[in-house]
Amino acid sequence: MTNYTSQSLIFLNEILNEINHRDKLHSKKIEANIQFVKSNFPNEFYELLGLVYQYYFKDNNNVGASKIAQDYLKMINDYRVDGLYFYKHGKYRCENQQMAFEKVYSNSEIMSYYMNALLISQVLWKHHFNIFIYFQKQLKTILNREAKLKVLDVGPGHGFFSYLVKKNFVNYQKMDLVDISETSLLMTKKIIGYEEDKIKYFNKDIFLFDEDSKYDFIVLGEILEHLDNPKEILNKLSQLLSEDGVVWITTPTNSPAIDHVFLFKNRQEVHSLVESSNLEIIDSQSFIAEDVDEKTADEKRITNLVGLFCRKKH
Ligand SMILES: C[S@@+](CC[C@H](N)C(=O)[O-])C[C@H]1O[C@@H](n2cnc3c(N)ncnc32)[C@H](O)[C@@H]1O
Repeated sequence: MTNYTSQSLIFLNEILNEINHRDKLHSKKIEANIQFVKSNFPNEFYELLGLVYQYYFKDNNNVGASKIAQDYLKMINDYRVDGLYFYKHGKYRCENQQMAFEKVYSNSEIMSYYMNALLISQVLWKHHFNIFIYFQKQLKTILNREAKLKVLDVGPGHGFFSYLVKKNFVNYQKMDLVDISETSLLMTKKIIGYEEDKIKYFNKDIFLFDEDSKYDFIVLGEILEHLDNPKEILNKLSQLLSEDGVVWITTPTNSPAIDHVFLFKNRQEVHSLVESSNLEIIDSQSFIAEDVDEKTADEKRITNLVGLFCRKKH
């Protein structure tokens, strides 16, 4: 174990201790998750943890473990409040994307704790972590490792998907990252970094973004549920996609959050939406947030994170 790895582990343990101190019940759940991913995917776990540590500690004026734990628990608390509404009314509390923009994306105070919390959740939550494992494995079989990819990432947030593309497809030609929130894009910049002429950041609504040349690979990670009409973005992206291009989409079912607008009740609803657009599914897998089967997850309205590789319908 390198010195750097042991430092990031110490940092993680400090976060876990603080979470345990403040919320014993939630702590139990994530301790079990960590044990699972650490023992099943040690290399990937330490790699992602290293990125998270670097972001919080080195690039972000030494944000302490205690602050990260508090930001994370604020998000968990938001989930509980939104969850109560969702389980009572059968719909998300945030009514539309304009409301999400006004209350969340344009509010740097909320965005700052929310993005901190979402970043650490990528290693604390089994379903978040598992989707990276699936993504990385499938991507290498679907796309040519030597390809000079033109990449677009919509709402990159932590940017981990694009980080993995950049790492595995070193000949990539360009990478454009578009996010409506300035705070969120600042995080992406710190994780992905700069490479002259190749990487560009756009602080824009994706519906106002246009580009003449087509992309070979488009990432749409956890965006569909933020939109009033998610089919619109699928059709827009299919126009930005090259003829043989691939789109990677992730979206959760039954996932109440402060900025979630569009409810998918099960995996089939996600598949049907994609199939009703100009895209078709090449491969798909989903990861449930708790240790239950899919039928139980749908019945009990437990989150199922769906990941899909798609291409243009011909
Ligand atoms: C939950 S985060 C997703 C982060 C990451 N892509 C992932 O897979 O976890 C949602 C991100 O989408 C951005 N976003 C929401 N609506 C958008 C829009 N219309 N155009 C561009 N970005 C948008 C938000 O600012 C936020 O950074």
